[in-house]
This record gives sequence, structure tokens and C-alpha cells, in this order.
Amino acid sequence: MNSPVLLLSAEEKERFHKKICGHYLQYGRDLPWRKTRDGYRIFVSEVMLQQTQVERVMGKYEDFIYLFPSFAALADSSLKDVLFAWQGLGYNRRALSMVGAARKVVTHHDAALPRTIGDLAALPGIGKATAAAILCFAFDEPVPFIETNIRRVFIDHFFQGTGPVKDNEILPLIEETLDRDAPREWFYALMDYGSMLGKKSGNANRKSAHYRKQSPFANSDRRVRGAVLKLLLTEDSVSSADIGARTGVSAERVLPILRCMEREGLVKETEGTYMINDGEKMNSPSISIAPS
Ligand code: ADE
Repeated sequence: MNSPVLLLSAEEKERFHKKICGHYLQYGRDLPWRKTRDGYRIFVSEVMLQQTQVERVMGKYEDFIYLFPSFAALADSSLKDVLFAWQGLGYNRRALSMVGAARKVVTHHDAALPRTIGDLAALPGIGKATAAAILCFAFDEPVPFIETNIRRVFIDHFFQGTGPVKDNEILPLIEETLDRDAPREWFYALMDYGSMLGKKSGNANRKSAHYRKQSPFANSDRRVRGAVLKLLLTEDSVSSADIGARTGVSAERVLPILRCMEREGLVKETEGTYMINDGEKMNSPSISIAPS
């Protein structure tokens, strides 16, 4: 257990703020989802940014909003159309969760973004941290949260020379340094500073107790899932044997992956052929979608 600073002096807080805000004034990023207060748009951007880099999201976000401009539009869309628009963002379960979340917002919240962490975190694919980020960016509410860039900033600044750092050691500092008059801008500034640190060598997040190196993509199940989905987005239905042949993967390897995608609700199977699951399962209120 580290013994980080538990209570910061006014000078320490000021020094930290000056550093983060100074960087933001000069290098703050001009990102499309920062120009809006529209709850739906902020919801879409935060889900996209959960596991995908800013640069990649930039190339997808506006087209997605154009195609699905509101919770109501997204709720009314077919999973196939949403997955098609999602291509290139990876971790496709998020697209499925988003449709489920949009349907829940329409049914339970009058098609408007809920305003509490509890209601947001009850939406498919939304964990507590994403819920807090959405609350902060959509409503300027001073709720502390941690994500990869923010974690990096705090480890870099407050935990130099210490061992693995747990998020519950960082969160009190996030809370304590939070700019309650301008939380939205403050978190943008933190994220931009963290992104800058991430581009420098020596990623501070390696010191996080939660650090996991992403497995290589080349021969991963993620790659196979992506290839299967791409195929099913261009064909109505394909036999499992053809899926294997056309994705260059053995039947033994592709079958468990297909079954897993079926359990998740992404695809459905009828008599050995697979297709995107646009069926009744999506509309069922009992569907439970695990976060990706
Ligand atoms: N601006 C708002 N949310 C963001 C995020 N999750 N990552 C980077 N910039 C953002």
C-alpha cells in the first residue's frame, strides 16, 4: 500500500491546476463531441471512446450521429444497420448495447438522457465511470471518475517513485482536485494532459495496479469476430463451414466464437446458418447485455 498525499495543501492543488490548465490553454483538443451539450451525442461519444482511440472515433462519430440522430432513431434501427455504421470501432458488443440502451431510454425515460448515475449505469454497456463522465459532460455535474488518461495524469503527478497504484488510491485525489465550478472543462483538460503523457515514452499507466497490456490483434479471437461480423454484414446468412472457409479460420476455432457471439445476442443461428440477430431477442425487454 502506498502512502500518497491524502490531503493536499492549497499550494499543491494550485500547482497541479496550473500545470494541467496551462497545457490545456495551449494544446486543448478541439473535438466534435466537446462542442455539444446534447445528451444523446455525449452518450454516443463516451461509449465510442470507452475502448477506441480518439483519432479513430473522430472518423466515425459524425457519420454515426447523421445516421442515428437521437435515442428514438437509434432505438428504431436494426442491429445490422448499427453494426454496419460501427465498423472500424472494434468491440462490436458496444453497438448492441447501445441499441439496447436507446430502447431503454425511449421506454423508461421519455427518450431523454437520464440524469442520475444510477439510471445511467442501469443502461446496457454503461458502467459507473462512463455514467459519471456522461453526467459531467452533458450536465456539467462535478462527479469524479477515472479513465485511462486521467489515471495516467494522477499516477504521473502524485505517485512518482511508488509501486503499483490502485484506482481507489487515485479517486480521493480526483475528488479533491476537481474544479467544481467548471468540471466539464477540467476533465477535458485532464484527459488532454493524460493523452499527451501517453504519447511520450514511459506510459505511467504501467504503474497502475489495473494495467493490462492489450493482447496482439493479429491472430486473436477479436480479429476472427471482426471478420465474421464483416462477412455477416454483407450476406443475409452463411453456414458455419462457409464462415470458416471465408475467414480463413478452422471450424474448430470458428464454432466456439460463433456460439459466443450468439450468446451475446450479436448473431443468431438457424439450422447451421448464421446471421446478424435482428430478431425478436433484440426487442425483448428481458434481454440483458453485458458491458463489453
Ligand atoms: N472528451 C470528452 N470525453 C472524452 C474522452 N472520453 N476522451 C477524450 N476526450 C474526451
